[in-house]
Amino acid sequence: MKSHLTYLKKLELFKELDNFKDGQFFAIADYKVKNHLPQWIAFSPHVFWLKDPEEEKNLETYERAVEFFLKQGISRSSTLYVFGGGATTDLGGFVASTLLRGIPWVAIPTTLLAMIDGSIGGKVAVNLSLGKNLIGAFHNPEKIFICGDFLSSLNEKEWISGKGEILKYGFLSKELSDIILKKANVDEIAFACAKYKTEVVERDFYER
Ligand SMILES: NC(=O)c1ccc[n+]([C@@H]2O[C@H](COP(=O)([O-])OP(=O)(O)OC[C@H]3O[C@@H](n4cnc5c(N)ncnc54)[C@H](O)[C@@H]3O)[C@@H](O)[C@H]2O)c1
Repeated sequence: MKSHLTYLKKLELFKELDNFKDGQFFAIADYKVKNHLPQWIAFSPHVFWLKDPEEEKNLETYERAVEFFLKQGISRSSTLYVFGGGATTDLGGFVASTLLRGIPWVAIPTTLLAMIDGSIGGKVAVNLSLGKNLIGAFHNPEKIFICGDFLSSLNEKEWISGKGEILKYGFLSKELSDIILKKANVDEIAFACAKYKTEVVERDFYER
């Protein structure tokens, strides 16, 4: 299944999500982006929050999340929305890949790294004490929304991490290096990198 990649501003994103306001909107979200979200999501009882996503990207949190959504009445026709960096989209996507044998999910990456890499490609996973990403699945999100407005609260370390990844893209494609060198807006660059990775993944989804 292909992911539909959309580049939009926060107001447009929330207008799009408003369509689901009156139904049961199930989400996993990084607590650090709570202030970015509209009130109806930020205070919804159907949101499972992560306070420290990389630490919580494990089987214990996975089980708590699955039980949380089942108690909230999630069904096979539900969609799971995931707001956060790569650790959150990895855990959220893994929950979606297995809950009730798999339900659709939508990724709303909120770090630069997740916008250009972590949320793209459908590789979802949790960490074990033996190492990172040792249990996982291939489960493409139906949609990925790239919204640079989330980046306003990112700290220096996370900016550097995302920019380092952008540099790698610059070496992979002349078109991308031209966009980077002409100093386009960071969200434009992020969207171009995300599109590039989406195309690579479409050619070889299972990394064969
Ligand atoms: N599935 C894949 O293909 C793939 C590819 C690359 C990386 N990853 C995974 O992604 C993770 C790394 O990604 P990451 O750096 O985004 O990790 P992360 O999710 O841990 O986010 C980094 C930090 O930024 C915070 N944060 C998130 N959004 C924010 C915002 N808008 N403002 C302020 N703070 C915010 C988080 O709480 C966290 O402290 C790793 O777990 C890695 O294994 C997966």
